[in-house]
Amino acid sequence: MTQANMTTFSSMGDFLKERMVTTDIVCPTHGCNLVSAFDREPICMECIKIEKDKLEREMIERASAEYYKKNTYNWLGMHSIFLDETLKHATFDSYQATDDETELNKQLALNIARRYYKGANNNTIFTGKAGTGKSHLSMAMLQVVNEHSDPYRKCLFVSLDELMRRIKDSFNNKQSYYTEQRMIDLLTEADLLVLDDLGAETGAVTTDRTATDFTTRTLYAIINGRMNKPTIITTNLNSKDMAKMYDSKLISRMFRGAEGHVIKFEKTNDKRRTIEF
Ligand SMILES: Nc1ncnc2c1ncn2[C@@H]1O[C@H](COP(=O)(O)OP(=O)(O)OP(=O)(O)O)[C@@H](O)[C@H]1O
Ligand SMILES: [Mg+2]
Ligand SMILES: [Zn+2]
Repeated sequence: MTQANMTTFSSMGDFLKERMVTTDIVCPTHGCNLVSAFDREPICMECIKIEKDKLEREMIERASAEYYKKNTYNWLGMHSIFLDETLKHATFDSYQATDDETELNKQLALNIARRYYKGANNNTIFTGKAGTGKSHLSMAMLQVVNEHSDPYRKCLFVSLDELMRRIKDSFNNKQSYYTEQRMIDLLTEADLLVLDDLGAETGAVTTDRTATDFTTRTLYAIINGRMNKPTIITTNLNSKDMAKMYDSKLISRMFRGAEGHVIKFEKTNDKRRTIEF
């Protein structure tokens, strides 16, 4: 529109009004007359308003669904802490049952995972020899729960050893993201948590009282914060070893609801041992 013809109208509103013609056609829904602007097809202003409100609502719903998914479903990929990165993609499909024990344990793990996504809140313990697939199966359980939970659940895999290392590192590095409190909050907030390789975090520091106290304190805060939420623990320790390493209150909380949910590897071969010498 040129300056010249703008001046022939007192305002933009007047200009638009001039171009809008009320027709004799009536909206069957609203009973009002349709309006034609700029000689275009007549429209009902009420219908347009309703359509605009609907689009706006849908946009808000989509945005909030995306935010919700990011804050639940995406946790597993975003916040998990791995020592062994290959575990990121561990699934039931990629777990090969090579004998009776692996076959049984794979089935047990899958059954428990199914109960988790339906809301069970007992803890599960994987125990036994190294390289038998404890971490692999626990991650596979998280993947299943993450995919099938409705509503979504916050699933999290955390290598305890690596977690403790990062927290300790944060004591001397003020820029670190992995502060003790932030990590405790993260692990407490997860709806389903894998604490991977319990016991490994104490291995190098058994003679260091402070570090052991620190480990106990951190574990305590996590386990206490998860009294009503399920935790899957993987470990090479048996219950006797655990009793030597951790205090009894902590152990009894880690074993909460774990009766019938202890998955043992006693016979399976170490899948990492491919080199003979
Ligand atoms: N049955 C299996 N089928 C396919 N891959 C397997 C199987 N068992 C183990 N693996 C693979 O072997 C590697 C070691 O397994 P995993 O880390 O789960 O062992 P682990 O029992 O947790 O050992 P550790 O006690 O040392 O932590 C992983 O890369 C895992 O994906
Ligand atoms: Mg492991
Ligand atoms: Zn209408």
